[in-house]
Amino acid sequence: MGFGDFVDGPFWYFSLAVFVVGVSWRLYGMLSLASHVDLSAARGSAATGALKANLVRFFPRSALGKLLRLPVVAGYLFHVGLFALLFFAAPHVDFYRERITGFGWSAMPTWAFILASEAAFLGLMLLVLHRMMHPVTRTISRRGDYIGSWLIFIVMLTGCLALARTYEPLRILHFFTAELLLIYFPFSSLMHTFSFPFSRGFNGAHYGRRGVPA
Ligand code: HEM
Ligand code: HEM
Repeated sequence: MGFGDFVDGPFWYFSLAVFVVGVSWRLYGMLSLASHVDLSAARGSAATGALKANLVRFFPRSALGKLLRLPVVAGYLFHVGLFALLFFAAPHVDFYRERITGFGWSAMPTWAFILASEAAFLGLMLLVLHRMMHPVTRTISRRGDYIGSWLIFIVMLTGCLALARTYEPLRILHFFTAELLLIYFPFSSLMHTFSFPFSRGFNGAHYGRRGVPA
């Protein structure tokens, strides 16, 4: 079996399994952490607090607005660009139809795909530079915070190399790096993709019940 067949076949199923089982296992572990019974009288609603935190946290506090402008704008550029190209770029929609869902949906035009990719690249590079150069983020960042960013950067870069869709080894290379990302994902801070509503909800419920406008 050549490397291409390996990447298209067994390694794809392996990485998909690690991703699905790994993410489920991490979420299960997180949700089954022992919770304590709160004996104090409720001064507010935990549910409302959880919901509110989930929505409000999409924007920085106004007092921090200026300070956080760069990471917030860069964060949205990266994530919105990534979302658009992952789910609406024609080659990716083709992939879902052929290998996952069995059906497709309308894809965006190529110019929009390129624009979304550029936004994602710009946002990601600004985020990583900010992380490396800002004294506070640099101090609190660990190796894992960089590995996830570099991995997704490499997947996007190999995606650009495959854009011509004429040279098979470049398609294989892009697919292979995407599979490495899937395998790394459940064990890393990339889990924030699935865990963020729960962590925001947890904090929101904690403060909501105590009537703290947090
Ligand atoms: C709805 C889903 C997601 C939400 C709400 C979310 C939210 C966030 C937030 C708030 C940050 C911090 C940004 C900052 O420093 O200002 C972040 C960073 C990051 N996210 Fe996401 N994210 C999501 C999905 C994803 C996905 C699917 C990936 C890639 C597979 C991803 C990759 C990253 C990376 C690499 C960083 C760190 C960049 C850096 O500071 O070095 N995120 N995300
Ligand atoms: C700038 C970002 C990206 C660009 C320009 C891009 C471009 C492409 C292109 C052109 C193809 C088709 C290859 C072909 O059929 O010859 C493709 C396929 C694919 N891409 Fe991306 N991509 C990007 C990001 C990503 C990301 C972030 C992921 C996953 C995390 C991903 C996963 C895949 C997968 C699984 C395929 C299918 C491979 C196959 O058909 O064998 N791509 N991409």
